[in-house]
Amino acid sequence: MSETRTAAELDQEAAVRRLMEDYYREGKPPWDTDVTPPELVALVEGPDALTPGRALELGCGTGTNAVYLARHGWRVAAVDLVDRAVRQAREKADAAGVDVTVLCADVTRLDEAGVPGPYDLFFDLSCYCGIPAHRRDGYVTGLTHRAAPGARLLMFGYAPEAFGDPISGVTADELRARFTGWRLIDVTPGTNEVPTAWFTLRRDGAAAM
Ligand SMILES: C[S@@+](CC[C@H](N)C(=O)[O-])C[C@H]1O[C@@H](n2cnc3c(N)ncnc32)[C@H](O)[C@@H]1O
Repeated sequence: MSETRTAAELDQEAAVRRLMEDYYREGKPPWDTDVTPPELVALVEGPDALTPGRALELGCGTGTNAVYLARHGWRVAAVDLVDRAVRQAREKADAAGVDVTVLCADVTRLDEAGVPGPYDLFFDLSCYCGIPAHRRDGYVTGLTHRAAPGARLLMFGYAPEAFGDPISGVTADELRARFTGWRLIDVTPGTNEVPTAWFTLRRDGAAAM
């Protein structure tokens, strides 16, 4: 299906892409800590751990968490917009000796990415909150079409007041309104100096493939 985008929307997408490319070009971005967050560890190794299945990481950066999931028995695909990050993620997976499919693609256009799913787990560590508003429905559609029944989405995001343009932020109300067919089952405030939160959503019903 063809898309019609206004000049302002194209500018906004280009600005986010440029910002991300600049971060990776300049070296190790500030978010690239090599540490898997305890919220993901709890979901994978905690008392109510999910059974390993298929996972898709959105905006995987240099792949720390995709590698973590693969090490814990998940079949993992991971997507990022920036080829420099994708190359590093592939190297990290190779160095760890795990099989992760890392693709350079736009998470709001997953039909172009070759990640058919279905997935039991989606993981997004601060990607969605930077996606321009006009691309967010594309993100939701992509996940919804690839979600196994009962699939989880674990997302960390900055609140809108944390940063200015082109980072837009995310709220629980926005996720509730946008993720039709999903239930927001947990919101836990983050521990950052600026407002952040961890969101858990669950896909209800059958996979819409
Ligand atoms: C704040 S960084 C976080 C990276 C990684 N999750 C981490 O925590 O190390 C956001 C990531 O999302 C990627 N990204 C932003 N918009 C994207 C899009 N539309 N499609 C795919 N990746 C995107 C960026 O290139 C960047 O790697």
